[in-house]
Amino acid sequence: MEKLNLAIVLGTKRNNNKSHFVAKHIKKVAEESGDWSVEYVDPATLELPYDGNDDEAKDPRYTKIVKWAEAFMFVTPEYNHSYPGTLKRLIDSELNSYIHKPVSVAGVSSGRFAGVRAVAALAEVVRELGLSMTFTDILVGDSYGAYDEKTGEPKHDYIQESIVASLTELKWMAQVLKYGRKNVPSKYHK
Ligand SMILES: Cc1cc2nc3c(=O)[nH]c(=O)nc-3n(C[C@H](O)[C@H](O)[C@H](O)COP(=O)(O)O)c2cc1C
Repeated sequence: MEKLNLAIVLGTKRNNNKSHFVAKHIKKVAEESGDWSVEYVDPATLELPYDGNDDEAKDPRYTKIVKWAEAFMFVTPEYNHSYPGTLKRLIDSELNSYIHKPVSVAGVSSGRFAGVRAVAALAEVVRELGLSMTFTDILVGDSYGAYDEKTGEPKHDYIQESIVASLTELKWMAQVLKYGRKNVPSKYHK
């Protein structure tokens, strides 16, 4: 099977954030599976000067990745019971290129609820973009103790298992929606 294009989007620019351990772990599993070509999006490397999705409000590097992507993985920490403004600003900078593509979401928090409120809040947003969200969330709690900070290795098997389950479901949806965008008539796909 031809590899599918996966954009892994880190949802925060916080210094010393723990979410990047999860995002990089997902990247490793995806690449090792042989199923995906991966682009890693770190918002700290992008320039988004002000709100909106007009040409000056976008970063062309992100525009290119969103057009290229056949599936997304949003990795969001939980900040005050929701996702960070950084992730919203990044997502908002694009509009039509998300339509009829799948997304999985990974939630991360230092507490026991593992970012579940951020994931639930993000579900409302991705629907408006035309993304189809999987039901296989990756939920990582105890973020300060979940990874070996030197090696990036996870300390719990459940993280690896939920990443594999989420990517498996994402792959199925990516294949089906890719077929649909190409073969099933829609005003959104020429
Ligand atoms: C502004 C801010 C708000 C936060 N609010 C919550 C919260 O509502 N619930 C929670 O479980 N953790 C909260 N946390 C802790 C994060 O879950 C923790 O930092 C975790 O490691 C994920 O964020 P990180 O990737 O920035 O490290 C908050 C952290 C910050 C910086």
